[in-house]
Order: sequence, then C-alpha cells, then structure tokens
Amino acid sequence: DRTESQMLIIFGASGDLTARKLIPALYNLHCGGHLPKNFLVLGVSRSPLSDKDFRNKVALESSYLEDENQKGNSDHLSNFSEKLFYHDIGNSYEDSYESLAERVKGLNSEFKTAYNFIFYLSTPPNIYEVIAKNLSEQGLTQQKKGWKRMIVEKPFGYDLASAKELNNSLHKYFNEEQIFRIDHYLGKETVQNLLVTRFANSIFEPLWNRNYIQHVEITNAESVGVEKRGGYYDSSGALRDMFQNHLLQIVSLVVMEPPIGAKAEEIRNEKVKALKSLRILTDHKSLNENTIRGQYLSADINGDKVKGYREEDGVNPDSTTETYVAIKFFVDNWRWKDVPFYVRTAKRMPTKVTEIVIHFKPPHHRIFTDSGMFNKDNKLIIRIQPDEGILIKFGVKVPGQGFKVERANLDFYYDSLAETNLMAAYERLLLDAMQGDATLYARADEVEAAWEFVDPILNFWKTSKDSMIYGYSAGVWGPQNADDLLEGDNTWRNPGSN
Ligand code: BG6
Repeated sequence: DRTESQMLIIFGASGDLTARKLIPALYNLHCGGHLPKNFLVLGVSRSPLSDKDFRNKVALESSYLEDENQKGNSDHLSNFSEKLFYHDIGNSYEDSYESLAERVKGLNSEFKTAYNFIFYLSTPPNIYEVIAKNLSEQGLTQQKKGWKRMIVEKPFGYDLASAKELNNSLHKYFNEEQIFRIDHYLGKETVQNLLVTRFANSIFEPLWNRNYIQHVEITNAESVGVEKRGGYYDSSGALRDMFQNHLLQIVSLVVMEPPIGAKAEEIRNEKVKALKSLRILTDHKSLNENTIRGQYLSADINGDKVKGYREEDGVNPDSTTETYVAIKFFVDNWRWKDVPFYVRTAKRMPTKVTEIVIHFKPPHHRIFTDSGMFNKDNKLIIRIQPDEGILIKFGVKVPGQGFKVERANLDFYYDSLAETNLMAAYERLLLDAMQGDATLYARADEVEAAWEFVDPILNFWKTSKDSMIYGYSAGVWGPQNADDLLEGDNTWRNPGSN
C-alpha cells in the first residue's frame, strides 16, 4: 500500500475549510478504504474545544458530510470519528508549541503513525512562517525518523514579492519536495483529463498549435456573489482569487509542451516553461486594451433582489475590487505564436460553468457556400464543470439536394462512463499528498511565474488613471466592454448559447 501510517495535523482546524472540505474528503477516503490503518487527524486551533467537541461540533456535525453512498452507515462514522483529535494552541499561533509537540509525540506512539506527519496550514498566510519555525524548533520537522510534509492553502502570496518572501520563509524549514501548495482546480478530474486528452491521443496534438488553432477561450463563471467572504474578497479580487492560480493552472496545461513522462517533475517542468512563455503585458497601451475588469451591480434575478458587490457585507462601499476580469494575451513560443488567448473569470454570471474552448481555423479554401448555422469554426470544448465532458462541434451535410452544411456535435459526458464516481478535488489531492505525489500541486517556481504575469496588471489597475472598472448587472455575462477584447467578429461563447 502506497499510503503509509501517518498523522495529519490541521492548523486552523476550527475554520470553515476543515468542516466544509477537509473532513468530508477524509471521511470519503475512509469509507472508500483509502486511509492507512494507522492514521489520525489532529486539529489545532485557538478555540477551546475537547476532542469530543471537535468530533461532534466541528467535524462530524457538519452538514457537508453527506455522501449519498455512505449516509446512514453508522459504523463508518463512528470508526472515523475515533481518528479525530483536537489540540487547543492557546491565544495565538506565536508560541506554546511545547504542549503541541508533547501531544503529537504522545499520539504518534499510541497510534503508531511512524513519525510521518503532514502539517496542513489552513490559517492566514501571514502566520505560515511562524508555524513552520515553531514546528522546526520543537523538532517536529526532522526527517530522521519518518517523513514530514506541509500542505499550504491559497492565497499563496498577494503579489510576486510576497509570494517570493513566503517561498523563502518556508524554505528555511522545509525543502521544496516537502511543500504541497494546494490548487483545488488541479484536483478536478476534468482538469487532469486535459493531460490525457492531449497526450494519450494522437488526434488532437497534431492540431494543437498555431497552424490549426485560431484562438483559445477559457471561461470560469460563477453564479454566486462573494457570499460570506466579503472581507477577504475585497482585499483580493478576481485576478488574485481565481486568475493567478486556478485559471493560470488551466492555461499552463493547455499551453504546455508534451512532457517526457508523467512524473511530478516532468509535468511541472513543462508547466513552468509554459507559464514563463506567457507574454507579460507591460506597456500602458497593452495593459489598457487587454485587461477588462468589472464589478457586479444589484439586480432582480427571477424576482429576487440581488445585492450589488459594494453592498455586500465586509465590502467597502467605495470598493474598486473587481469581481470580473477578462484578459487577452499571447504566448511567446514556437507553438503559439500569434494565437490569442482570452481568459475570463467572474462572480454573479448567469450560470456556473468552467470550460475551455479551442477554436480551430476555418478551412482555408471553402467550397460550400451554403453553410447555414455552421459558418465559422470547428470547436473543441472541454467542460471542466458542470456536465463534465468533451464536445466537438463540426459541420455535416444537411440531407437533401445541394451541399448545405449544418453544425453537429460529438459529445462525451463523464457521467456516461458507467462506473464513474468522480472523486472530489480535495479527496484526490489529500490522498496524493499522503502518498507523497506532488504532480497536482503547484511548485514554488510555478507560483512565482504566475505572479510575474499578474503583477503588472495589478500595478496598472492600482496606479493608472485610465484604467476603468465597469459595472455589470448581477446575472449577465459581464460588462459589454469585454466583447471588444475579441478580434474580428469573434464573440465569447456564452454556454447555454451555441
Ligand atoms: C476558490 C475561490 O478558490 O474557488 C472562490 O476563492 C471560488 O472565490 C472557488 O468561489 C470556486 O471553486 P469551484 O470549485 O466551485 O469552481
């Protein structure tokens, strides 16, 4: 079994991520028989809770723990519950690590977790370093007996400088091989399937370049607003919250060259190269013309009045934080020269959808003039979520006289695979980290390369008087100005339309 005995120590355990994502993921892993026999979770945070409180109030009472397959199996639940422990760190994460160290060592001996520890930091990033330092001072990071790993949540940095600083601070106590930077989009089955689509088939890759592709469009839309995270979001915005990490991760998988193999470093090397080949927008004109940002305004959606962004709790009423961003850019390498990439992400869109659309060039000599609906391009649509799948749009002859061409679809949906049980992103990622596989985690240089692309945009928005932020009504596809980004008569493919 590749999953060795181990202890998962979650910092910030009374927070919402533990109940919403981590415990449900671990519970599903438990039910699926994926956890090692000697395994336990030690939650650490500043709330005064007992093990029992943590089990009953925080972890297991969570309404998120509702895997349809497992519900009602009380054996599973009580066996799992016995693996959960809690340690109150006191008033701050600055000190009092002696008692934590005692606790960890005690539990380790009792449950034979072989000194294999994963430290999961689900706290604000400004205390990552202090936690790492204290763990090191207590000897908890030593790898003489057992291995030690660290998983860190996003945001990884606020800009390039802070990301570098964070990497440097963590590297004082952990080697890069021990650090697992989570990007939950990499845990999505369909994001991983991008690699398989491209590199396990021979029919796509020959076309996957400037000779056949006209442009690439990536949309990430959410119908929700900022929900209860106004405070965090207002100091972040769509560019930092989604684009720098999740969207650029997807971009790197679309752009990358074929890796020599499927090992973590082989794939991550190519992703870094891809990110480094993005043409950084530097001058005023290109920044102004190629980045569009917007903020949602209040609207009536099906009779419900939806708040505008500036009216949301925790948001500054004069906020200029973007909830919509669309960026056009190019990739400076042999494969992608002159192919525009259009990438957008936003809240309060008409629907929740993430998809990649590869628009192929039209045939260079057209002999059928009667093209009906099918008058433009072949498209390959990779649906990340929902309705995960792959769609190919192509032209077919309309039966009858002449050569009328209509659009037809070749559709594959994941749920058509009989045995499919899509593992939730956190399940997959946690299990990978437990097995020491970093393929689906972001490496230090990847994160920095992504910030390198994003930094000039952030600066431009902050400092330029010309940089506009447009309003859009909640429930529409963003500000109209974003349509002007697209060249010629191209338009965004708004899912739900054709
Ligand atoms: C998170 C962002 O990383 O991703 C959220 O902080 C966003 O703002 C979420 O809502 C979207 O994730 P998913 O998996 O629902 O697309």
